[in-house]
Amino acid sequence: MLKLPGLIDPHVHVREPGQTHKEDWDSVTQAALAGGVTMILAMPNTKPPIFDKATLNLALDAAKQKARCDYAQFLGAGPDNADKVAALANKAAGLKMYLDSTFGELRLDDMTLWMPHFEKFPKDFPIVLHSESRTMAAGILFAAIYDRPVHIAHVSLKEEILLIKAAKEKGIKVTCEVCPHHLFLTKPSRAERSGSEVEAGGRAEVRPRLATKEDVDALWQNMDVIDCFATDHAPHTLKEKDSENPPPGFPGLETLLPLLLTAVDDGPFGAAQGRLLTIDDVIQKSVINPRKIFKLPEQPETWIEVDEAAEYEIKAADQFTRCGWTPFEGWKVKGKVRKVVLRGKTAFEDGKILVKQGYGRNVRQ
Ligand code: NCD
Ligand code: ZN
Repeated sequence: MLKLPGLIDPHVHVREPGQTHKEDWDSVTQAALAGGVTMILAMPNTKPPIFDKATLNLALDAAKQKARCDYAQFLGAGPDNADKVAALANKAAGLKMYLDSTFGELRLDDMTLWMPHFEKFPKDFPIVLHSESRTMAAGILFAAIYDRPVHIAHVSLKEEILLIKAAKEKGIKVTCEVCPHHLFLTKPSRAERSGSEVEAGGRAEVRPRLATKEDVDALWQNMDVIDCFATDHAPHTLKEKDSENPPPGFPGLETLLPLLLTAVDDGPFGAAQGRLLTIDDVIQKSVINPRKIFKLPEQPETWIEVDEAAEYEIKAADQFTRCGWTPFEGWKVKGKVRKVVLRGKTAFEDGKILVKQGYGRNVRQ
């Protein structure tokens, strides 16, 4: 049995308020615990989005009643709420800015709208950027100009990880996260068919999109540049994913650890030349670094126990997420979460959730 600290997932779409048919604070925190995650940071692109005191309270009230693991809630940057969100900073996980194609209403296209947020949001809390490619480069320039930390969400491209590496070498305050689906899946292409490709169509839709094998290899090769693993758990129902207009997003809380542990065991994904992933990397990038970057408290008497030798197939039917599917259906993995102890209480054991709704704590309170 492998004993690890409880994992922290800094990027989770809870869907409550507003879209509880996809997920809510109850189901998402059950999925988290089943995945060995004891703390989640919730994204603000709900319905309504979380962008002021009233909407923050909507999310936090629901979380207080329903959450079974610990949490904090992000605020969303809008065109005219820089003063409001700055005043709420100590009640939130941080500020999220959507600068590129996404799901929901929180998108800031014009760079003049970024400026007040970079000026006003307290520098001891990170601004998280959903920014891809050249927009990401602009975001890093903003971090340099305003001399403040930014955290780049879900890095997926070679050009992105290389630019972040260069920016870090210059001392710019940039950190980043990578999602398992960008480490283990590539975009569908006829030229390079392999088992890792997700079939084209609704289910493959995700932002950032799945990238090429070359991009995936670059992420593995630059494992040292990656500060955090984050799931970007973005549940949409199977019916929605298979519809005419499929929303982007994958669930990920319950597949994060088995995928990583399988990679620890098998070496880098595919034919990548990256260095081996170690258990220490998993602890560093899923516990220590997120805690440091987002200034999160330690969770006393909290750990998870994993059966390293357990081999099994990932099945949506075994998951707690409400969305009813996983892009990793049928994948053979090694490493099963057996037990989760959260603040002294067994919260999950042998497939069963053992703590009640409301056990989870807001770590910003
Ligand atoms: C996210 C969602 O569904 O909320 N989707 C996604 O593909 N990652 C939105 C986002 O993070 O852009
Ligand atoms: Zn997201």
